[in-house]
Amino acid sequence: MTRTGNRPMQAYLDNSATTRPCEAAIEAMERCMREGFYNPSSVYAPAVEAFRQEREARENLLKPIHSAGCDLIFTSGGTEANNLAVLGAVTRMRGHQTVAVSAVEHPSVLAAFDRLHELGHDVRTIGVDIHGQPDWTALEKALEDGASLVSMMQVNNETGALLDAEKLSRLVDGRALIHVDGVQGYLRVPFDMKRADLYSFSGHKLHGPKGIGALVVKKGVKLNPRQVGGGQENGLRSGTENTPGIAGLNAAALELQGLWPDLPGRLMAKKLRFIEAVRRVVPEVVVHGPAPEDAAPHIVNLGFPHVRGEVMLHALEAEGVYVSTGSACSSKKLKVSSVLTAMGIPPQNAEWAVRFSLSPHTTDEELDYAAGKLGMCYDLLKRFQRR
Ligand SMILES: Cc1ncc(COP(=O)(O)O)c(C=O)c1O
Repeated sequence: MTRTGNRPMQAYLDNSATTRPCEAAIEAMERCMREGFYNPSSVYAPAVEAFRQEREARENLLKPIHSAGCDLIFTSGGTEANNLAVLGAVTRMRGHQTVAVSAVEHPSVLAAFDRLHELGHDVRTIGVDIHGQPDWTALEKALEDGASLVSMMQVNNETGALLDAEKLSRLVDGRALIHVDGVQGYLRVPFDMKRADLYSFSGHKLHGPKGIGALVVKKGVKLNPRQVGGGQENGLRSGTENTPGIAGLNAAALELQGLWPDLPGRLMAKKLRFIEAVRRVVPEVVVHGPAPEDAAPHIVNLGFPHVRGEVMLHALEAEGVYVSTGSACSSKKLKVSSVLTAMGIPPQNAEWAVRFSLSPHTTDEELDYAAGKLGMCYDLLKRFQRR
């Protein structure tokens, strides 16, 4: 492992799994726990102040997606927000429903649709092409058959494939509710709530804390709560609010908002530079999914021919380079990625996949270090792999 001063050099390129909380988030959480720990539902002055801060955070978090006038329900993260959107919306509708979901959604969405299937609803799974783009004809068919909810993610967590949200909302044209999982997109890729009815995001993907996220709900959209009790969050998510989490999420989001409008361009430049550096040392490398310049600016999925992703991952780990082979949830299951296979990538090639995900804090030094180690590890490993 290389050293910088006394510290071994590291490159953390797994920001789609989670990000390092920023100082502003840590400070805001500490302040909230030490001084602002009151229950926002209580009625004396310090509690009213806690309530005011929560309202301010809500308003601030709605701004970047042009969603003034929408409601924002704090949840324990992206998983709960996705569950609430999908199950909350459909269980509120009367009778048997037809619903549509893309084949490459995060398990927190797919499992919610599995639940709908168990409840007897007609779930249409919409396939994707080699670039990760949905089969719009299949979606149109589902809509003609009366689909009442469509769920598609803004940014694919494994490939960075981007949703054409304008096309989706034009096609749906008010016939169904649209849920967009924005966990990998919020504050890294622009989004406008004009294009959706429900939008989820999560704090720990944007340098905020774990255990906090939100579901943005357009006015008039009705949901059944998944968690009942004291009636917090307009009755949609009972339980005393996670005020330190909210404070940390708000501080992290404010910091990222301060980097706009340049942030996506800066991230894209870093990513393209990294891919170029990898191509110089591993000319055989393949990009899975859309062309890098057409994808989200912070995610790229690369295949290193004849070297299994998890072998590469552990070789890189020994050099202080942290990456993953797919989504954090599935990477321990040692299965070929269902996202890549749904895109039509042969399972054998999908086994070579490694995902690199950047954040605004990723430095050029980290990227150059990682590219150098990739070249070194690939040269070594390809000699030992079966063909
Ligand atoms: C696209 C997507 N949706 C949802 C989630 C779940 O978010 P959380 O970890 O906050 O529950 C993730 C986490 O990796 C994700 O990548």
